[in-house]
Amino acid sequence: MTAPRNITNLALIGFMGTGKTTIGRLLALHLEYDFLDTDHCIESAAGKSIPEIFNQAGEAQFRDLEKKLVCELSKRQRTVIATGGGLPCHGDNLELIRQHAYVVCLWASPETIYERVRHNTHRPLLQHPDPLGRIRELLALREPYYRQADLLVSSEGRPSREVVQHILHEFLNRKSQGG
Ligand code: S3P
Repeated sequence: MTAPRNITNLALIGFMGTGKTTIGRLLALHLEYDFLDTDHCIESAAGKSIPEIFNQAGEAQFRDLEKKLVCELSKRQRTVIATGGGLPCHGDNLELIRQHAYVVCLWASPETIYERVRHNTHRPLLQHPDPLGRIRELLALREPYYRQADLLVSSEGRPSREVVQHILHEFLNRKSQGG
């Protein structure tokens, strides 16, 4: 049985480079909500960058830190939460977030994601000889999780303000129906 939902937050999920942080900050401004980025929270709590955590402790340790943070997120109210790309695809993270947040997935094609992230060095999972192939592979594995969002929104070829307006419309509609 799925747990009952009490929607007090808005969570953004989706692959790296789909615009979760940019869109999330804009949404928080419009809604007058707090903004929280799970990667930033993990970095400040650990006193290390994400690549340092991956290099020194490994991905499994990083996923444990994500899991711990997810358990704390249920205490949040009126917060837009931008999640790391892999967070909703591990354990029961997505189920836990759905209990208190309306979940929006930002979507883009592998080619667009590649163009957006190709010059970044802070994403350990894409430090790979074939980053586009890796993006395709990970996206295919993660798609079933991303598709469980309440709303799936393409962030491709559209100005951020249009994406934000679309999400606000759906979110406020949902809230007016009683969460
Ligand atoms: C990851 C995405 C990153 C960060 C880490 C792992 C992933 O976050 O959490 O590098 O597994 O997709 P962004 O989606 O914000 O880049």
